[in-house]
Amino acid sequence: MYRLNKYLADCGVGSRRECDALIKDGFVKVNGKVAVLGQTVSENDKITVKDKRVGDKQKLYYLMLHKPKGCVTTVKDDLGRKTVMDFIDLKARLYPVGRLDYDTEGLLILTNDGDLSNRLTHPRNEINKTYVCRVSGILKESERIQMERGVLIDGVKTAPAKVKILEQDQHHTRCEVIIHEGRNHQVRKMFEAVGKEVEFLKRVAIGDLRLGGLKRGEYRFLNELEIDYLKKM
Ligand code: URA
Repeated sequence: MYRLNKYLADCGVGSRRECDALIKDGFVKVNGKVAVLGQTVSENDKITVKDKRVGDKQKLYYLMLHKPKGCVTTVKDDLGRKTVMDFIDLKARLYPVGRLDYDTEGLLILTNDGDLSNRLTHPRNEINKTYVCRVSGILKESERIQMERGVLIDGVKTAPAKVKILEQDQHHTRCEVIIHEGRNHQVRKMFEAVGKEVEFLKRVAIGDLRLGGLKRGEYRFLNELEIDYLKKM
């Protein structure tokens, strides 16, 4: 037996929360009767959403892509640009979890597990994302500390972050930045706030899940341990 919202989510209808809303609004029927929140079902039940039969529980896929720069993190781009999906040769309908900018490369998770996707991107969960970047000029200690304590982006202060200088010469600074928020262009804007321009940006980890040696444009399936780890984050 499965809880109805979990069953619907596994069938790809939406996240558990979205499925709860559909149940609450009376769009879901089990064996012809309007379903109620918290109901349990089995594979033998006839389940419909807006009077359309919901198919078998779909297989869930979890993979990581090394997104190269020069593509958009979306399933389909209205402007016809290359998307992250162009690197994935699977029939399943997967979705990217969160977003990397067109010019950012690095670790991107793709899945058809709407629940996990929601959990990983919900601000409440404060999941650390680690980036390495190269910026213009010398990042002064006072600027590094300012970025760690929080800078204003569009009038709102960023949450505490970790900023470590890895290498520096007169023209560039290479840093590691760890943030748990996911605001638009956040790392770029944090550097902008201290007068630095990001020249290269790569996400190398989400929590403890690391990109490792995966080559640009390549993807691999996550193993059971990695999937369990993400589900418990
Ligand atoms: N911060 C950015 O500025 N860009 C990204 O793609 C990710 C984090």
